[in-house]
This record gives sequence, C-alpha cells and structure tokens, in this order.
Amino acid sequence: MRFSSRVQPVLPSRGRRGRITGGRTRPNPRERNAREERTVSSEVLSRPAGFERLPGRPLDERELRALVDQLAERPELWRQHVAFPDGRRHYASLHRDEHVDVWLLCWTPANDTGWHDHDVSSGAVRVVAGAIEENNPRIGGEPVRTVVTEGRSFSFGPDHIHRLTGVDDSSVSIHAYSPPLNRLGQYSIDESGVMRRMTVDYTEELRPPGEES
Ligand SMILES: [Fe+2]
Repeated sequence: MRFSSRVQPVLPSRGRRGRITGGRTRPNPRERNAREERTVSSEVLSRPAGFERLPGRPLDERELRALVDQLAERPELWRQHVAFPDGRRHYASLHRDEHVDVWLLCWTPANDTGWHDHDVSSGAVRVVAGAIEENNPRIGGEPVRTVVTEGRSFSFGPDHIHRLTGVDDSSVSIHAYSPPLNRLGQYSIDESGVMRRMTVDYTEELRPPGEES
C-alpha cells in the first residue's frame, strides 16, 4: 500500500535520540546507570502521545495487534487525520521510529493495493470505521477472502501475502509494522498466470500493476 507523501508525517520520532556514546574511559557503574537513566528518559520523552509505552525493541505480531487495538480506543490521537479527498487515497503517518511505524489509512471501494508482501516486517491492522477486504492468493484456486469490519483486527508475519481493498465508503484502518516498513514486494500476474515479485520502496503507493491512481 503506497504510503504516499501527500500527507505529512505528523508525529515525527525518527532516530535514536538521546543516545550517549562512550568516551575513552570506561565510566564507573554509578555513572553508567545515571547515563542510562538519562538515555531512557530522553527516548521516552521524544515519543508522541500514545506511543510512550513502546518497549524500544521490535514488536511481534501479538504486540503489534495489541498496539493497533489500543490506538483504536484513543481516537483523539488519529481522528483529525481522517479524510477522503476526491476519491484519492489518503494516509497519515502516526509514528515511526527505529522499531515500529504506524499509519492511518482511509479507504473507499475504489482503493486496491494489489498483491503485496511486507518484506521482513510483521504487521497488524485494526479497522476503526467501515470495513476493508483482505484477499490471500491461492495457487489453483480463488483467493481466500475475508471482510474485516469495524472493531476487528488481525496480524501477520513477513511470510504473509495479501491484497486490501475498501468495502464501505469512508472506511478507516490503523496499521502497525515492525521492523518499520522499508521495502515491500509487489506482485504481478501475467496472462499465462506466471506471478512475479517486484521490490518497491515503502513510499511508493501500492496498486494493481498497470493502474494509475
Ligand atoms: Fe499490506
């Protein structure tokens, strides 16, 4: 899903802020503890509201799902970013650090990511308005189709291949990925049924190959 730059990231928290690098001499334990406390405090303080309690390490599927479920219960953190501009796709980055990134996506039935994977990232999705449809490809058969309605969530690992579309007008979902999305795999299927994978940058908007907009 192309996370376009149309929407400005709103909650910047990139980088390893507050890290203290060692000097030429080894600090004594008391000094080291004091430094570590300052490091932790600085990193926690740099996180935006709603993300202060992230553990500072990669999150697994269960933790990602818990994160999107918790964010769903705090609409004050994301509802201002919900928009449906003239049928165009609309996304907002809610948070990105070295371990996790979180996005708000707005959907209509015209929005279709095409088949894709998330490279090395695990992910979780929570629908907070309307409904989206997930399809998983099946060799020699119809895709597995799942409609995910408001209040439902799911998670997946790096081995997951899917395609997401909006079901209802004005559908909204929250997505979390760990490690943060960097590259994705986008799949095309030619006339003979041969499937190919192309690596795309996470800032490229995913859509079925050949479709514009
Ligand atoms: Fe996806």
